[in-house]
Amino acid sequence: MKVFETVIETQNYTKSHSVGFVPTMGALHEGHISLIRRAKEENEISMASIFVNPTQFNNPEDLARYPRTLEADLERLEKAGCDAVFVPSVREMYPAPAVLKMDFGRLEQILEGAFRPGHFNGVGLVVSKLFHMVRPQRAYFGQKDIQQCAVINRLVNDLSFGIELVFCETVREADGLAMSSRNVRLSPEKRRVAPFIYQSLLKGKALLQSGVSPAEVESTLAAAYAEHPDFRLEYYEVVAFSDLERIPAYDPAVKTVLVVAAHLDGVRLIDNLIL
Ligand code: PAJ
Repeated sequence: MKVFETVIETQNYTKSHSVGFVPTMGALHEGHISLIRRAKEENEISMASIFVNPTQFNNPEDLARYPRTLEADLERLEKAGCDAVFVPSVREMYPAPAVLKMDFGRLEQILEGAFRPGHFNGVGLVVSKLFHMVRPQRAYFGQKDIQQCAVINRLVNDLSFGIELVFCETVREADGLAMSSRNVRLSPEKRRVAPFIYQSLLKGKALLQSGVSPAEVESTLAAAYAEHPDFRLEYYEVVAFSDLERIPAYDPAVKTVLVVAAHLDGVRLIDNLIL
């Protein structure tokens, strides 16, 4: 596996290949690796990037505590048969601080946008830079971060990147917890209660499918979180897949998503379920 630290080396390599690209912030798990496998299957070469992007962290403590496991990450990628990885320094990525601000409209005001001001600006910036640096034909993202998928889709359309986007299913632990780099920050005791999040999504799905209204599902599940001693809920919403806006009524013929964000043990976790 090739490991590149500079844009020049990366472009020298990618200019003669058609690339399937998987951007990551490292601390890799099976969720990331599933994207690499897919990129490998569908492209001449697969390329990952590992870069903990400071501009997308609205909370400095979250950035400082973000797990960094480069050696283990490179081993994992190599084992998965990844062809190349781009590991830029902050200086390579941001030779000067970026001044440009990206505004994704309504997506900035709802869900993650509302709770993490500036987050999608940082994601938009770094993904744009990575796309220019790597010049992939396809790029792979996980639906675990469903609003990020919507943001990247806007970005690629509005700025005519000409890159095909592939959105992939959420990979879960055996007990249902969505895999996340932040899971390692949970104490063993809190890790045991973490599957409550996925269970709350399954419960919401069952209620919706039995005819309970979206508003009632939201309030029922919000109450369940309020009663739980370990969680602090940010949002639990029933939204349309098309624009992530709340819906007045559930129609099984229309793609719908249950989305949740909650704090557990000082760790912010998000998950969703697509119906
Ligand atoms: P990161 O959180 O490292 O995630 C990298 C990619 O892996 C994202 O597309 C994310 O949705 C996907 N992913 C994470 N957990 C997953 C899971 N359990 N199942 C499937 N896919 C999963 O998302 C980012 O990094 C950054 O915002 C980035 C796009 C790299 C820009 O900095």
